[in-house]
Amino acid sequence: MHTVIKPKILYFGTTVVLISTLNEDGSPNLAPMSSAWWLNESCMLGLSHKSQTVQNLIRERQCVLNLPSPDLIPAIDNLTLLTGRNPVPDSKAERGYMYEKDKFGVSGLSPLPSHQVRAPRVEQCPVHLEASVVQLHSFEAPSSLTAIEVRIEKVHVEDSLLMEGKPHHIDPSKWNPMIMNFCQYFGLSEQLSASKLAPVFGLGSS
Ligand SMILES: Cc1cc2nc3c(=O)[nH]c(=O)nc-3n(C[C@H](O)[C@H](O)[C@H](O)COP(=O)(O)O)c2cc1C
Repeated sequence: MHTVIKPKILYFGTTVVLISTLNEDGSPNLAPMSSAWWLNESCMLGLSHKSQTVQNLIRERQCVLNLPSPDLIPAIDNLTLLTGRNPVPDSKAERGYMYEKDKFGVSGLSPLPSHQVRAPRVEQCPVHLEASVVQLHSFEAPSSLTAIEVRIEKVHVEDSLLMEGKPHHIDPSKWNPMIMNFCQYFGLSEQLSASKLAPVFGLGSS
């Protein structure tokens, strides 16, 4: 039995990403987002044009996708309802958003220099993906949303997440992404089984 419903949002559960970019004056901006998915060496980001992040991506063509684990929920909470955009766009101000220039300071997170891009990494995140913008695709008007294709240029992973004896493999049993599931935060449950794709990607089958 299925019921037809009209949900307010369709956030079926995606990874939270803390995206760092550079502002016009060279200071860093930091913003949580979760409309992100990866294919091969690329990532698609769904973001509003009204965010400072999109303005920075259009100008700088670079960013770092920092992946937080669930212990960083307090830092994400500190960044929620803040924008690096000044003045705050009316539609955001109406929803309670406030301007904040020092996103690293208010979140208690620390910047780390990147290798290939000018935006800093977030030290406390276990995964940092340095990326460059490939192209933007605006959603149908009057939406302010845009899908941004980025190419991952460099992957930094905390040593504790790596597979024993396989220096270039992330151990999925050790990586616990923060998931945004209908505006509630979740981690992952335990492993259920391996996908039949695991051997296709040379990732073992256990
Ligand atoms: C967990 C979480 C997920 C979010 N996901 C998105 C998203 O996928 N796309 C988006 O445009 N905004 C998303 N937001 C809202 C942005 O964080 C918000 O627009 C913020 O003001 C952007 O900051 P900026 O203007 O400094 O770039 C999310 C916020 C939170 C807390």
